[in-house]
Amino acid sequence: MPDSLGVRDLAQTAERRQLTVMFCDLVGSTALSAELDPEDLQELLAAFQRACAEAIESLGGYVAKEMGDGVMAYFGYPRAREDAAERAIRAGLKAVESIRAIPHPDAEPLSARVGIATGLVVVGDLSGVGAGARAEVVGKTPNLAARLQAAAQPGRVVVSRLTHRLAEGVFEFASLGELMLKGLRNPEPAWEVVGTLPFRARRSRSGDTAERPMVNRVPEITRIIDAMRRSVAGEGQLVGVSAEAGMGKSRLVRAIEERLRREPILWLEGAGAQIFANTPFHAAGQMLRRSLGGPRLPADEALRRLTEALARTGLDVDRTLPLIAELIGVPTPDLQAPLTLGADERRRSLMACLEDWLLKSAEARPIMMVLEDMHWIDPSTLELVDRIIAGASSARICILYTARPEFQAPWPESANHHRIQLERLDLANTLAIITALAGANLSPVLARNIADRAGGVALFAEELARLLIQEDGEAGGQGEKKHGQERDIPGSLSGLLTARLDQLGDEKPLLRIAAVLGQEFPLRLLAAVSGVGRRRLTAALESLVRADILVSRISRTDRAYGFRHALIRDAAYGGLLKGEREDLHRRAAKTILARLPEVARSRPEILAQHWEAAGELDAAVQAWRAAGSRALERRGFQEAQVAYERALAILLALTDSPERDERELDLVTSLLGVLQITAGYSAPRTRAAAARARELAERDGNPTRRLGRIIAEWAALSSAGEFLEASQLADRVLSLAQADAGPANLGHAHTVQMTARYRIGDLIAAEGYFRAGEPYFAHEGFRRWPGAVAQTFGNAARVAWIMGDASEAERRTAHALTFARESGDAYNLAFAENMAAIISVWSARPSDADALARNALALSETHGFPQQAFISRIALGGAAAALGEARRGAQLIREGLEGMAKTGARVAMTVYLTWLAESHQAGGDMDQALVVIDEALQINPQERFFRPETLRIRGELRLQRQEPSLAERDFLEAIRSSKSMGAKLFHQRASASLQTLRRLQPA
Ligand SMILES: Nc1ncnc2c1ncn2[C@@H]1O[C@H](COP(=O)(O)OP(=O)(O)OP(=O)(O)O)[C@@H](O)[C@H]1O
Ligand SMILES: [Mg+2]
Repeated sequence: MPDSLGVRDLAQTAERRQLTVMFCDLVGSTALSAELDPEDLQELLAAFQRACAEAIESLGGYVAKEMGDGVMAYFGYPRAREDAAERAIRAGLKAVESIRAIPHPDAEPLSARVGIATGLVVVGDLSGVGAGARAEVVGKTPNLAARLQAAAQPGRVVVSRLTHRLAEGVFEFASLGELMLKGLRNPEPAWEVVGTLPFRARRSRSGDTAERPMVNRVPEITRIIDAMRRSVAGEGQLVGVSAEAGMGKSRLVRAIEERLRREPILWLEGAGAQIFANTPFHAAGQMLRRSLGGPRLPADEALRRLTEALARTGLDVDRTLPLIAELIGVPTPDLQAPLTLGADERRRSLMACLEDWLLKSAEARPIMMVLEDMHWIDPSTLELVDRIIAGASSARICILYTARPEFQAPWPESANHHRIQLERLDLANTLAIITALAGANLSPVLARNIADRAGGVALFAEELARLLIQEDGEAGGQGEKKHGQERDIPGSLSGLLTARLDQLGDEKPLLRIAAVLGQEFPLRLLAAVSGVGRRRLTAALESLVRADILVSRISRTDRAYGFRHALIRDAAYGGLLKGEREDLHRRAAKTILARLPEVARSRPEILAQHWEAAGELDAAVQAWRAAGSRALERRGFQEAQVAYERALAILLALTDSPERDERELDLVTSLLGVLQITAGYSAPRTRAAAARARELAERDGNPTRRLGRIIAEWAALSSAGEFLEASQLADRVLSLAQADAGPANLGHAHTVQMTARYRIGDLIAAEGYFRAGEPYFAHEGFRRWPGAVAQTFGNAARVAWIMGDASEAERRTAHALTFARESGDAYNLAFAENMAAIISVWSARPSDADALARNALALSETHGFPQQAFISRIALGGAAAALGEARRGAQLIREGLEGMAKTGARVAMTVYLTWLAESHQAGGDMDQALVVIDEALQINPQERFFRPETLRIRGELRLQRQEPSLAERDFLEAIRSSKSMGAKLFHQRASASLQTLRRLQPA
């Protein structure tokens, strides 16, 4: 059964979707049943139901249940509609109206109450009976609609929060505040519909868009204004702006209106609407009504203005007035004229008369005629436009229309017909829209996430940002907390997105499977998971490409497809029932394993996501772990961290067992290695992971694992500046490694020893460990470890340099740099460059230091190595001070030190504080220099390797302050300690200083 997966099954089952549910109830039916003869009552109820059904169906709703004195209907089912809420409200108003008109035996007119709510439901055939059964719905929304209905006054329509939000620009509402409704836990905000707004103000609620800045679109505005100018000169123009929903067509129109506000032109504006797509002259009528001052105008005033306008243009008022008055719904005292004409003829006359009128008006005053949403324009208005275009080549009319891509303009492009395609916004502009809404304190990562999901569509960016603000308000500022595949879709966009999916018909189930596979998916995978034959599948996919839902990509190995918008994928995915999702994810994982082994190998995170979403937790842990190792191989530390953390999070949900502990230890140890880089060796998270690893390892006897754990502990201690304890651990590391005898571990053990020794000032032992370890440092297993080569050779270079062997130091530094550059490993390179930069500062080569540290900083910021980034800043500061920029140098060093303090690192503080003191000295602030250098000597007595140099510099400072005896004391102490350490270079420097002092101050 090749099609067994159910591209077909999926089409038949129920689905999750946003739905607008309406309840309409007859008021006082119990009383009526007591008063009326059963047969009369039955007739009355039937009339009530007919009135409801007629109102509902005429607006595209679906009558789901008729219960005697009540009716329930859905809008947005079986086909989602962008304007479902609007339709429901119109249906509600219409039902209330027609029920009032039902003849009733008593004098009291009948009346009904309507409640409408919009929200997520499961809808479809839930009975299992199959085809023909009525669609049922489950969720809070129908209850809410029913309760709102009960809360409504007789003859009124009351709506929920989301319904209100969706229809805000179309109707006028009065807030009812928050209502406590029976059966619902929280109070619900509700609104009563007061009336219909004169013009639909879609998406420009309470003028809020106008207040936010317009981004980009300058060239488009210029083109349109240019066209207007040409038309004013007597060369009629037609400009079409085309773009998908929400790209900013209407916003562009508003910007044009703003630009032309002070010009002596007549601005006419109308729009197509989905509901009125078949109402003759709807858009034209709207345009005229608007130019006369709107329907709120008293009838006699409207009539007066109309008569005047017609007379001004020299039209035969007696003939034209009744036609146009009828079109725009203004009653005339004398309507005979049109009534004497047949329908066809009337239409023709109206057409001719409108055309005439518009062209004549343009003689008096140039016209800008805007027609929005041409894809929904009624055919009569379209014909009118067509005729005006034909006659407008020398008229002062500019017609500006907007349309979604499905509108095929019947006019060829020419010198006087311009088509403008709005392109998606770029990242910077998208971010500008997001921050304008969400405020500048939105985290950059979150803003970036939203921008990525919005895919350059202004509306998506706005609505996602709004959703975030709203969630923040509700969830106490946690921001994006969801993990996994399901992502919230703003309620305001749900109708729009689902409507696009529902237009697809046959391809929709396929698209849902594709959505499970991800934002992008290889054709082969979709073929295998869906079980649809290749030829049919390609045809279906290509038609989805034509529908602008998918984009096709041809990669080296296979054809692949991707969703054009992340939100369309999310909407398609969001329609699946949870059980269906799990099944499909499971199936995807199995298919990848069986048929696309290279994907399983090279992108284990894909597999991991499927297993996780399928609820196969064991397999998910395994795959996330593999994804972590795979990311590490490629030096993707951030990705590795995410993968290990995912694996651990899932593991925590599994029941306790020794086996589980073992897996956790393995994962925590791996995570620990990554956190050292992404957070810092002594950062709180790293330490927490180390503590957990230790706890787990106590229950575990495996010696190799124990070694890894002890090394991590050593790194944490060492980086935190606890060097004596670190030295003791170093001994244990070496003895464990010797027992294990693997060359890589022996390499690590020697590095650990060398590092531990030199920090406490035992340079000779450090050098010995480096030499003894050299054979192991060349081993592949050692070199692969993140940062191992940089750390080992960088520190060894430092040791050689302090011991007076500058050329050996140079050789070791060069080795670390070359290796890092050749391996293309960013962490190793940033680390090695920092080490080299520090030696360059010491060697008075500040320009070299500056170049190296700059590069290291850029790498660290790009890849997320916080600890390295702070060291780069400090090195840059050391270099800047030496280059004569004392103040900037001090500033950089301070920033670096503050950052390090946050990551918990306290290593080489003696060096950095000495630099800070020197930069104060260079800036002439001797007092501050002395304070800081004392701090350098006190901050960590366990850190000894740089102490002689710090003492010497303090001596120099004291000498400058005319305190020769104190200076001498420092020099002598520096000489003594450098000698005992074997720090030849520092010894030379201190001796030289002492000599100078003695020359200047003979005893
Ligand atoms: N260039 C822009 N700068 C700032 N905001 C914009 C820009 N373009 C669009 N927006 C905002 O994005 C939202 C959607 O834009 P708009 O309503 O103009 O889209 P549209 O293309 O007319 O969509 P539809 O086809 O659904 O009518 C609006 O709130 C609008 O203010
Ligand atoms: Mg629009």
